Parts: sequence; structure tokens; C-alpha cells
Amino acid sequence: MTTKALFSLAISLFAGEWQAAALPASSPVSPYTPPDYSAFTKSKFLTYANNASNHNWTNAPTLSISVNNYPLTATMDTGSTGIVIDAKYGFNASQLSKTCQIGHILYTSSNWLQEGYWCTTDVNIGGVVASALALVRTNATCCPDFNATTDGDRCKNPVDSCVCAGGCATSATRRNLSPGEPDSAFMARRQAVGSAYMGVGFARGNSTAAYNLFMNVKSIDGVAVDSTYRQGYVVTSTGVQLGITKASTVGFKAAKLALKPGSAAGSRNWDQPTAAVKIGSGNWINGTFLADTGIPNAYVLGDVAQKSGDEISIAVPGTTNPFGEVQFSAVPKANAGSLGTKNPVQPTWVGNRTAIGVNTGRKFYNKYDLLFDADGGYFGLREKSS
Ligand SMILES: *[C@@H]1O[C@H](CO)[C@@H](O)[C@H](O)[C@H]1NC(C)=O
Ligand SMILES: *[C@@H]1O[C@H](CO)[C@@H](O)[C@H](O)[C@H]1NC(C)=O
Ligand SMILES: *[C@@H]1O[C@H](CO)[C@@H](O)[C@H](O)[C@H]1NC(C)=O
Ligand SMILES: *[C@@H]1O[C@H](CO)[C@@H](O)[C@H](O)[C@H]1NC(C)=O
Ligand SMILES: *[C@@H]1O[C@H](CO)[C@@H](O)[C@H](O)[C@H]1NC(C)=O
Ligand SMILES: *[C@@H]1O[C@H](CO)[C@@H](O)[C@H](O)[C@H]1NC(C)=O
Ligand SMILES: *[C@@H]1O[C@H](CO)[C@@H](O)[C@H](O)[C@H]1NC(C)=O
Repeated sequence: MTTKALFSLAISLFAGEWQAAALPASSPVSPYTPPDYSAFTKSKFLTYANNASNHNWTNAPTLSISVNNYPLTATMDTGSTGIVIDAKYGFNASQLSKTCQIGHILYTSSNWLQEGYWCTTDVNIGGVVASALALVRTNATCCPDFNATTDGDRCKNPVDSCVCAGGCATSATRRNLSPGEPDSAFMARRQAVGSAYMGVGFARGNSTAAYNLFMNVKSIDGVAVDSTYRQGYVVTSTGVQLGITKASTVGFKAAKLALKPGSAAGSRNWDQPTAAVKIGSGNWINGTFLADTGIPNAYVLGDVAQKSGDEISIAVPGTTNPFGEVQFSAVPKANAGSLGTKNPVQPTWVGNRTAIGVNTGRKFYNKYDLLFDADGGYFGLREKSS
């Protein structure tokens, strides 16, 4: 994140407070009261496929989906955008090359290159049909020397093994290393048979609304959605509510999101929410926020380096009128799970982030439910009752 981007985020936050100040002085309404969603009445709650066995956000949530009538288990990841589906699930490989755009995704932390085609694909998620650009994977290769500029979308020098668990970060051949990305165990889950990896986050990389299934719901239980459906979702500990309604947002506070710089009005290309972070004896500093369901650990960057045992404090969207506040301890990866064991939001370990702010990881959802109004560009949190 550049300094310039930080400034524009701070300004947009200020603008939100200014609007709220126009409300009658007699009702001291929080500046973060969500919009009135009473015109929107359609939604569906989808219980996680692993709800019964996944306590306290130990694992990533999964949903039962189907693609071309193949039942699959999809990991629901708020830390990425877009779904990767293997072509063997009902796609015709020679047809793909004719009608879809060649593409790839490189998981830089593991060097695994997903080769395929970007195809607009219908996915049935528990009776909710959504349609977005999916990467239909035709091959996965271990490609430590991949360079998109010279290689295009296909690996020129595949190697037999991408075993780099724990050692990837120091591999001399590793390209595009971005500290804070998932490790190779995470990658293995993405490639598991009978599964799909479904990124439903926003403001990740250069991805847009066109790649996010949860921003492109078409029908619910066979009935096309209309203007009473507002695209977006509420993440809870037992499932996800698709469709923003007045009822599903009771108890939430929400902040307006800015569009990513350069995005057209109407693009729904929302920027990251904001949060202030404070590490140990450092100062509060404004940055960006992500609560990534894909990882049990966290990544944070403040104004001082973290040391094991430092208290890390987070205030969303900032230190003025925060509607989300958590504290946890800095703990290095080598000592994962050793500190804060009584704290429900304690990540397993805490790494350094590249941008100022925090990726709390999924333990955050032990304290808060999360709202994303994809049509209106609002991000909200609600403290859980128990
Ligand atoms: C999720 O699992 C818990 C624990 O087994 C259970 O109490 C709860 O009813 C389940 N929730 C849903 C929506 O199925
Ligand atoms: C989940 O967390 C609660 C509160 O911290 C704790 O009492 C409970 O034992 C935990 N459950 C499991 C299965 O870890
Ligand atoms: C796959 O698509 C090609 C056209 O690109 C077609 O000729 C072929 O019959 C299709 N195969 C199947 C099994 O449908
Ligand atoms: C798939 O990748 C392997 C390397 O992992 C390569 O040898 C093979 O030719 C690729 N297949 C296709 C169809 O591209
Ligand atoms: C991001 O941009 C690059 C270069 O324009 C493109 O190849 C890639 O497909 C894009 N990724 C997504 C997820 O849109
Ligand atoms: C952080 O942002 C708030 C506005 O939300 C502003 O008042 C404050 O001065 C900023 N802090 C820093 C350190 O820039
Ligand atoms: C984070 O980076 C600092 C240097 O800025 C380093 O001292 C520290 O060990 C790193 N911490 C972790 C958890 O990687």
C-alpha cells in the first residue's frame, strides 16, 4: 500500500463520518449505522458443510457446491477472489480452448502453476446459482522459474516436485515471493480431488467483481433474483447468508468502502476496509484490514517490528468510534499455538504483512460476524452474542 492510497482511505473514512453528522443532533446515531436495507428481502443461509465438526474456526469453512452436476466440496476463502475448478468436472478441454480465454494462477508461495482457461461458469451453491469467471484448470505444474512476461500462461520449465514446505521463502528459485501468502500445505488443499477452492473476498490483487461468485448470484432455489436481492453476504460461525437484507444485518455497524483507485463508478471494485493497528510499544497506525477464512494465523504490519509476546491491538475501521476491536499476542511461526491459548481470536502464529494493517486470519470470526454489501460497498462487523 502506498502512502497515497493510505491518504485516500483516510479521506473516505472521514467523509463517512461527515455524512452521519448531518443526522438530527437529538439522536446520537453511530456514524457507522448501516444503510436501510428494508427494500431487500431475498436471501438464503447456507450452513457450512463442515459446521458440525469444525469448532471455533479450527479449519476453513466449506460449502457443498455442484458444477455441471458434479458435487464438490468448496473451501470458502475470503482471502482470495475467484474459483478454480478442475476441467475433469464436466468441461470439454478442446471446447475450452476455443471459447474461453487462456489463463493461469500462480500460487507464489508454493510455485504451483494452475494452467487453464477463464470461463464464465455457473456454480450451484446449495440451491443458489451464481455465475462468474472461473479458472477451469487443465493442468497443474510445479514451475519455480515461471515468469508470466516471458512464459505467457503456460509453464516452460516444469519440474517434478514443488516440495518446499517451510523452506519456500528461502528457495533461490522462488519467483514473485510475497511474504504473507499461504504455504504449501494450503496449496495441497487447493488441489485436492473432489474439491474446489472458492475465493469470495474482495480487493485482492487485480481481481474484480466479475470473478466473485458471491457478487453474481442469479437465482435462489430456481427463482431468478430481482431488485429485491442485494448482492453480498454475512459470514457467521455456522454458515454464510447470501443476500443482504434488513434482518440479516441487525446488530451490525458498517463503514463505506472506497472504490479501488482508477475504478469506474458501478464497477463494484471495492477497496480494502481500514483498520488501525498497534504493536507492543509502537503507535497506532492506519492501515488495511482482512479477516481471511483461509488461514488460522495472522499477518500484521505496524510502525515497529513485532517481537514474540508483544500485544497487538486492532481497531476497525480506526481508533475513532471503532466497531471492531481485538487484541492478540505476537507469536512466531516456530512457536505456533504457544501463546494466547485462552483468547478466542488468538491466531496460531503472527507473521509480518507487506502492507500496513492486518490480516487477522479466521480466528477473528470467533468474536465477530462479517458483512460485505457488494452492491453498495459497505463493510461491517457484529460482535457475536456468545
Ligand atoms: C452447527 O454445528 C453446531 C455444533 O454441532 C450445532 O449446534 C449447530 O446447530 C449447527 N448449526 C447449523 C446451522 O447447522
Ligand atoms: C471453543 O471455544 C470455547 C470458548 O473458548 C471453549 O469453551 C470450547 O471448549 C472450544 N471448543 C472446542 C471444541 O475447542
Ligand atoms: C468437445 O468439443 C469438441 C469441439 O471443440 C467436439 O468436437 C467434441 O465432440 C466435444 N467432445 C465431447 C465429449 O463433447
Ligand atoms: C501438464 O504438466 C506436465 C508437467 O507437470 C507436463 O509434462 C504436461 O505436458 C502438461 N500437460 C499438458 C496437457 O499441458
Ligand atoms: C490480473 O491481471 C493480469 C494481467 O493483466 C491477468 O493476466 C490476470 O488474469 C488477472 N487476474 C485476475 C484474477 O483478474
Ligand atoms: C488515522 O485516521 C484517522 C481518521 O480516521 C485520523 O484522524 C488519524 O489522524 C490517522 N492517524 C494517523 C497516524 O495517520
Ligand atoms: C518481522 O520483520 C522484522 C524486521 O522488520 C523482524 O525483526 C521480525 O523477526 C519479523 N517477524 C516475523 C514474525 O517474521
